[in-house]
Amino acid sequence: MKKLIFILAAIFGLSLTVSACSTHDGRIEEPETERPDEPSDSDTDSGIMGKTLIVYYSFTNNSHVIATELQKQTEADMLRVEPADENVDYNDYSIGLPMMNLIKAHPDDPASYPAIKTAAGNLGDYDNVIIVAPLWWNNMAAPLQTFLFKYGAEMEGKHIGLIVSSGESSIEGVEADVKRLIPKGKYLNPSLWILRSHTNQCRTLIEEWLKTIH
Ligand SMILES: Cc1cc2nc3c(=O)[nH]c(=O)nc-3n(C[C@H](O)[C@H](O)[C@H](O)COP(=O)(O)O)c2cc1C
Repeated sequence: MKKLIFILAAIFGLSLTVSACSTHDGRIEEPETERPDEPSDSDTDSGIMGKTLIVYYSFTNNSHVIATELQKQTEADMLRVEPADENVDYNDYSIGLPMMNLIKAHPDDPASYPAIKTAAGNLGDYDNVIIVAPLWWNNMAAPLQTFLFKYGAEMEGKHIGLIVSSGESSIEGVEADVKRLIPKGKYLNPSLWILRSHTNQCRTLIEEWLKTIH
């Protein structure tokens, strides 16, 4: 029971403020507000316990909007995954689809994953990782899979949350990807599915989700 309260409290590191989105350069961003390491009586109300990292990738900005809103509500740190080659047009079926099929065919081969220039840095500092992922052909967008392929083992024992942005497809394939790539995570349920067309409602959707996950 204590553990459950801890999980919820860690994720609910709340500051329910909303403002315009900013751009990110791929490094872990520390929130401006300082958070105490140890819980106090007042922490019980604000729910701030443990440390949370938001990891996301975004090709057409929807996941960026979602991750930015989540960061505002949780005061978590944030890391944007950047592909090594920024000029790839993943929308081009002749590029994006073979990339995803290669991962599916050889998921254990590092050569299947597109190169990224983002390094995880200090994952050991975090108790919780929330992943914000675009869906590509029913799976997690390839560059984010690269990141988790490289660093998923370091997330062992951490609480793992998932938010997926898609055009219309449901998210089971992305959930399966997370479990494959972070085999020893402690998964928070449910995942949050935000349709691309509902991105502008993400503040409310995230607020409700944070109250629900366990
Ligand atoms: C390469 C690629 C493949 C996609 N495949 C699907 C799909 O199979 N089903 C779907 O509903 N949306 C699909 N989408 C749409 C994205 O999931 C959706 O637009 C999402 O909001 C993108 O997130 P982003 O703006 O953070 O990149 C695809 C988008 C891209 C770029």
